[in-house]
Amino acid sequence: MDLSSRIETALRDAVILGQGMGVDAPQRLAAALDHATMSGGARIRPTILLSVALACGDDRPGLSSAAAAALELIHCASLVHDDLPAFDNADTRRGKPSVHRAYGEPLAILAGDSLIVLAFEVLARAGGVAPDRALRLVLSLAQRTGMPGGICAGQGWESESNVNLGAYHRAKTGALFIAATQMGAIAAGQEPEPWEELGARIGEAFQVADDLKDALLTEAETGKPAGQDAVHGRPNAVALMGVHGAVRHLKDILGGAIASIPSCPGEARLAGMVRAYAEKMTPVDLGAQAVRATGAT
Ligand code: IPE
Ligand code: IPE
Ligand code: MG
Ligand code: MG
Repeated sequence: MDLSSRIETALRDAVILGQGMGVDAPQRLAAALDHATMSGGARIRPTILLSVALACGDDRPGLSSAAAAALELIHCASLVHDDLPAFDNADTRRGKPSVHRAYGEPLAILAGDSLIVLAFEVLARAGGVAPDRALRLVLSLAQRTGMPGGICAGQGWESESNVNLGAYHRAKTGALFIAATQMGAIAAGQEPEPWEELGARIGEAFQVADDLKDALLTEAETGKPAGQDAVHGRPNAVALMGVHGAVRHLKDILGGAIASIPSCPGEARLAGMVRAYAEKMTPVDLGAQAVRATGAT
């Protein structure tokens, strides 16, 4: 099975579990779970997780697939909550109405909560084959989701008056990319520490690229509202270093990513994947958009 099929199958199974098929469960909330997870995400985090697991031998594929699904569930939950009026008040996500626009705020809050809990249930259910690895997966995912270093911390920085852009990006976005590389290693029975730098670099680059897209692309191109960082006064790479500075920064970070890949049996293949991904993340178009954008520096 290719990576994408593994991810979609594991995620679909997880969502069906959460929806409680055959159980008397609230159907609108069940539909909101589907909307939050099956509306066309790029699945970049689980792809990285499985790529690292494969590079490390992937001797427990059931566990690594479950870890990939758990990570994507947390990501989807974070987007549902991020779009709420209390945060970014976004009407669209992945080219469709955001969950709170489609189902209302109470169900969006509950859908996000349910997906977070479901992620840990998925790990617990798959963990019987290697309980020691499952425990470490739970710990890793929890640390990258909550306080003090996970997504909750990242979103929490938005309520502080003095924000360090690096710490904000590391927690808001970097955390789940570090989870991706480290959980891939853990699922394959390897130590997670050597994999932190790769995840951190990909995550930081990803957020800088997202800041550039937010400033330069339209809603039709990204599937979510444009110009949100400026509208909400969020600290972001474009405001801090200008468009060209941000593009340069992005290239610098990615340059170091390949060099940081720990030695492992599938190192060369993984390096090829990171290189291809880096090219996709820094499309030549972003440079062209920078020139087109009036007032961009
Ligand atoms: C969006 O992540 C949120 C950020 C951290 C910038 P993605 O761009 O991976 O979102 P989907 O899953 O493809 O919609
Ligand atoms: C979202 O950050 C990252 C999360 C922790 C959910 P943003 O608010 O910058 O991302 P988009 O632009 O809505 O995807
Ligand atoms: Mg946000
Ligand atoms: Mg947002």
